Amino acid sequence: MDSRFSTSSCRQTTIYALFTTLLCLYTVVDARVVNVRADVTSCLTGLNVTLPGDPAFQSESQTFNARLSYTPAAIVLPNSVQDVETLVKCGASLGVPVVARSGGHSYAGYGLGGVDGALVCDLSALKSISLSGSNAVVQTGNRLGEVATYLWEHGQLALPHGTCPKVGTGGHTSYGGYGPFSRMGGLLLDRVVSAEVVLANGQTVTASNSSNPDLFWALKGAAPSYGIVTSWTYSTLPAPPTTVFFSIDLPAYTSAAAFASAFSQYQSFAQTAPKEIAIAFSMGPNGNGGIGVQLIGNYFGTKANFNYLVASLVLSLSATVSTADEYTDWTRVLVANGYGEQLVTAGPSPPDTFFAKSLVTTDLLDNAALTSWGNYLMQTAANSDINWFAQADLYGGAISSDFDANSSSFAHRNALLVIQFYGSSNNNAPYPADGIDIINNMVTSISANPAAAYPNYIDPTLTAQQWQSQYFGSNIQRLSSIKATYDPQNVFSFPQSIPVSVA
Ligand SMILES: Cc1cc2nc3c(=O)[nH]c(=O)nc-3n(C[C@H](O)[C@H](O)[C@H](O)COP(=O)(O)OP(=O)(O)OC[C@H]3O[C@@H](n4cnc5c(N)ncnc54)[C@H](O)[C@@H]3O)c2cc1C
Ligand SMILES: *[C@@H]1O[C@H](CO)[C@@H](O)[C@H](O)[C@H]1NC(C)=O
Ligand SMILES: *[C@@H]1O[C@H](CO)[C@@H](O)[C@H](O)[C@H]1NC(C)=O
Ligand SMILES: *[C@@H]1O[C@H](CO)[C@@H](O)[C@H](O)[C@H]1NC(C)=O
Repeated sequence: MDSRFSTSSCRQTTIYALFTTLLCLYTVVDARVVNVRADVTSCLTGLNVTLPGDPAFQSESQTFNARLSYTPAAIVLPNSVQDVETLVKCGASLGVPVVARSGGHSYAGYGLGGVDGALVCDLSALKSISLSGSNAVVQTGNRLGEVATYLWEHGQLALPHGTCPKVGTGGHTSYGGYGPFSRMGGLLLDRVVSAEVVLANGQTVTASNSSNPDLFWALKGAAPSYGIVTSWTYSTLPAPPTTVFFSIDLPAYTSAAAFASAFSQYQSFAQTAPKEIAIAFSMGPNGNGGIGVQLIGNYFGTKANFNYLVASLVLSLSATVSTADEYTDWTRVLVANGYGEQLVTAGPSPPDTFFAKSLVTTDLLDNAALTSWGNYLMQTAANSDINWFAQADLYGGAISSDFDANSSSFAHRNALLVIQFYGSSNNNAPYPADGIDIINNMVTSISANPAAAYPNYIDPTLTAQQWQSQYFGSNIQRLSSIKATYDPQNVFSFPQSIPVSVA
């Protein structure tokens, strides 16, 4: 499979591993960091703390997105929920912002605070997973690959979520959690039946439909602003018995009109597709001035039924089914989707140096928008000094039909597509100065005033007005009033945390 432009965010990054030691990040120490050092040292007594200057600090404070680097006041590795309580009380008493880090994959480095001087609660020692009937209780030090492996091995169970195994359950669940099984079973946050969370006052509570229901609603869509979730309880599903992992190669496009026509056919197929198919339109420069495209995805059924379902689309696009592999082992499906990365491996993900964002669509993009996008892509394919890809994932299915719009604060129940736009520098070199504009303009070539975006592809360049409306829509008012109830002093604060009041 050609991964130059597929999401392969997992695989795309592995080739950069060799270069990370050459980076010289984290050399700037903020004055505030020095000032709070003595204080945090005293109120964190007994905890496992790494401070600036400690030998482990540089590796502990590595961001997944090497474009950004932050120097926290301290990084704490709690060994228990009680340790998390102590940490939160410490941050609250000193007025130091407290943030959680689960898998550390925030596109904006928010697991390290997104600014210097935060108190980081690294959850990686909280690894318990257990089953109670078909509900899985998962501490937030677990990453997606670990959860999938455990569930498969304990009764061939599964959850819908993304396919990069090192993404953390903490952030991924908080803001959505989309993957191949989502049109069958919802987003990962839709599977949450309760959460254990440490609040700003240092107390641990349960949030569910029957206990702190407002908080529960807010956690499912915006958890990082309300507390540190120490465990999620998920309602699991039987793993799909038969899955076809597929990719379909489209011809390379060298004109905006041809690109627009192909995307339009994909959209029409997508709009009426059965929930048994997960499919994405994935594109990038083909190296010859044109745009290469693959349709990649999964079908929950037999290969014969898959071929039947896509036959007329493949024919009308003059495309070729290049992969259609039938699996019965769900963990092997996930490995195939993650471009071969094993589900459980030690050590951090190798970083990438990138800028990415998203656009959520609810209606079909019209020919004017698609032609404008196609024209922009043609220029970018020929001129760009970044590696970029864009991928339009199909939402709908269970995401829109099985879960009430008001069952969580996730604002995009009616999404048709979530399109991700991703630019990365070559070999972890510094991100080019024009690289942010290149990606931003890709979005505005489609829509001058983007209405909606997916918060798990969090974009630190949006203004407050933009991110509040694009991520949370009309839910922002209620989110803000719940913030005022549960975290009035704004202990859980980072550049895009829900404010205690909105205009
Ligand atoms: C390689 C890669 C592949 C991806 N693939 C997908 C995909 O297929 N589908 C998809 O939907 N998304 C995908 N994403 C986006 C991903 O879902 C987000 O980046 C997600 O927020 C990362 O979660 P994390 O725990 O790893 O990151 P972190 O940086 O640890 O956390 C992200 C945010 O959540 C907060 N947080 C973390 N843990 C907790 C907690 N326990 N309680 C409260 N707040 C917490 C952090 O403070 C931060 O603000 C991908 C990202 C990457 C880098
Ligand atoms: C403390 O954290 C480090 C990582 O920074 C970890 O390797 C070590 O095992 C932890 N020690 C204890 C006692 O928890
Ligand atoms: C919680 O309440 C929502 C909205 O009323 C409902 O859709 C959902 O099924 C309930 N969840 C559980 C686990 O009971
Ligand atoms: C959403 O749910 C909350 C309580 O959980 C309720 O107060 C509110 O009226 C609901 N909104 C709608 C539009 O149903």
